[in-house]
Amino acid sequence: MNYKAELILKTDSILTEGPSWDEDKKLLYWVDIEDKKVHIFDPQRSVDKEIKVDQYVGAAVPTRSGELLLAMKNGFYFLNVEDGRLTFICNPENDKPYNRFNDGKCDCMGRFFAGTMSLNETDPTGALYCLEKDMTIRKVLENVTISNGIAWSPDNKTMYYIDSPTKRVDAFDYDPKTGNVSNRRTVIVIEEGVPDGMTSDSEGMLWIAHWGGWQVSRWDPYRGKKIASVKLPVEKVSSCVFGGVDLDELYITTARKGDVKNQPYAGSIFVVKTGIKGVPTYKYCR
Ligand code: BGC
Ligand code: CA
Repeated sequence: MNYKAELILKTDSILTEGPSWDEDKKLLYWVDIEDKKVHIFDPQRSVDKEIKVDQYVGAAVPTRSGELLLAMKNGFYFLNVEDGRLTFICNPENDKPYNRFNDGKCDCMGRFFAGTMSLNETDPTGALYCLEKDMTIRKVLENVTISNGIAWSPDNKTMYYIDSPTKRVDAFDYDPKTGNVSNRRTVIVIEEGVPDGMTSDSEGMLWIAHWGGWQVSRWDPYRGKKIASVKLPVEKVSSCVFGGVDLDELYITTARKGDVKNQPYAGSIFVVKTGIKGVPTYKYCR
């Protein structure tokens, strides 16, 4: 099955990434990692607002108290969206100036998971962390190269995770009470490009962005089978998230990196009406 994507926001952003959906405000948050910007997009009014920050920003997620939680070059921060003020929380990688934070997402209990990568994209110096609700930090995985997509099954008993260069999606048993992961195994192998951001839907299927693969694909993680694809006019597809009033629209981010001469929409955001409800973006809750 093939879905058709529509352009919803034309941007000249370089590394358009990390989309998350605010169900209460009906807003899409996204980041331009390399241009150091957090964006707030209102799809109903077609208005996009940007907030400049002072470092690379890998992910921006909503919180219960209204500010955004950011995973940046130098750790975790709260961002006040009214005045742009940043409040530092902590940096688990003070000793690793050659790393930055990349993708991040909250679990159903309101914990924030976010991972790091080496700026050179090849050294396995990254890790996956969990910022607990009491704002303590815990290392979840080590020896990661490019920490990317994170998603949970609708029953929250499985966590899915992508370290992009492995070209795999791995699954873990997940305990929402403790936030612990165990029993790592590979459930999907990607051949077209490398897997980047990912989200899950209410049927337990995964939607995976193909960096270098011109598409987002829908997979059945129980059978390891690709079941649908959304082709895009951009080579480097970076991430996706469900949004819209009924949570059945998939918002897709793309990057304007490398040779994009024949890709006028590289860096832009697309949307697909899937007719399938997504798993919601959970908010950080302290
Ligand atoms: C990172 C990029 C990287 C890409 C492909 C993205 O999430 O931000 O720097 O090249 O994944 O692995
Ligand atoms: Ca990513």
